[in-house]
Amino acid sequence: MTSLLLTPTSLPSSLQYKALDGLTNDIKTLPPALFYDDIGARLFEEICRLPEYYPTRTELSILAQYAPVLASQVGFDAVLIEYGSGAGKKVCYLLDQLESPIAYIPVDVSRKQLLEVAAKRSEQYPALDIVPICADYTQPFNLPLLPSRSRRVAFFPGSTIGNFHPADAVSFLKSIRRVVGQNGRLILGVDRKKDPEILHAAYNDQAGITAAFNLNILAHLNREFGATFDLSRFRHISFFNDEANRIEMHLESLITHQVTVASKVIKFEAGETIQTECSYKYDEEHLTSLAERSGFNIDTLYTDEREWFWVALLHPVSTN
Ligand code: AVI
Repeated sequence: MTSLLLTPTSLPSSLQYKALDGLTNDIKTLPPALFYDDIGARLFEEICRLPEYYPTRTELSILAQYAPVLASQVGFDAVLIEYGSGAGKKVCYLLDQLESPIAYIPVDVSRKQLLEVAAKRSEQYPALDIVPICADYTQPFNLPLLPSRSRRVAFFPGSTIGNFHPADAVSFLKSIRRVVGQNGRLILGVDRKKDPEILHAAYNDQAGITAAFNLNILAHLNREFGATFDLSRFRHISFFNDEANRIEMHLESLITHQVTVASKVIKFEAGETIQTECSYKYDEEHLTSLAERSGFNIDTLYTDEREWFWVALLHPVSTN
């Protein structure tokens, strides 16, 4: 029997605070979580289908190939907790293969998408408990009561870990480590370091969808927080920062002007940018270090033919 539980929480006001804090710094930034309102979530789905944007397709191909072996490594009685479930299709590769999973818990800030995904999955997997949680997954959230025999398996696909600065990535993975416990597992999607030209194309697509996605962060601030951004006064910029091993996305102000956000006046010089996203690309040394500093060991690294992406299985470092 399917049981569908919804634990809604509202969009955290901490996001508004972070936005204001970032915009009043000398180097202006905005939190990437602000990308994902309903419009942003739809634009991101379009990005995932772009010919230049290889990560989604590549990760899916790895999951399609290795889900059976991953599922056997995870074992019985899994509770799959998906951090940032989005359109939520990747998880099906695992749900199709897992032996007697107990529950699927998608966690996402976009309520509409979360409800759609939960409804689809409960139709598809009638024997599974689906417990959607509407939350900013970087903040603590409550899990439902789970049977003691269950093994908590965190699933964090999409290489979203790359959107965290290294120190924040460690704190975030440590929080996952606390959620899954000693007995748990983490299945992590990681984008690998590669030719900067491939990266550049992926974040500067010809159809301009990434530009629209980037600019929507300002439209989101206008809609949700009454900001007065004029989108035609900004343009999308994205480049690979070789020293820092990351793609950076910015919005550049085309003219000197000012904007009001939550009654605060924010001044922009012509050419000044707001950094909206970093997308770190990992090599094995950096990934191993990230895992170890977060209390995990790498069990297995699954990759594709071109060696562009990893689906990594991690287990908690033993505390004995
Ligand atoms: C969600 N995240 C992994 C994407 C990335 O590639 O860093 C977000 C994105 N930004 C621009 N295109 C896609």
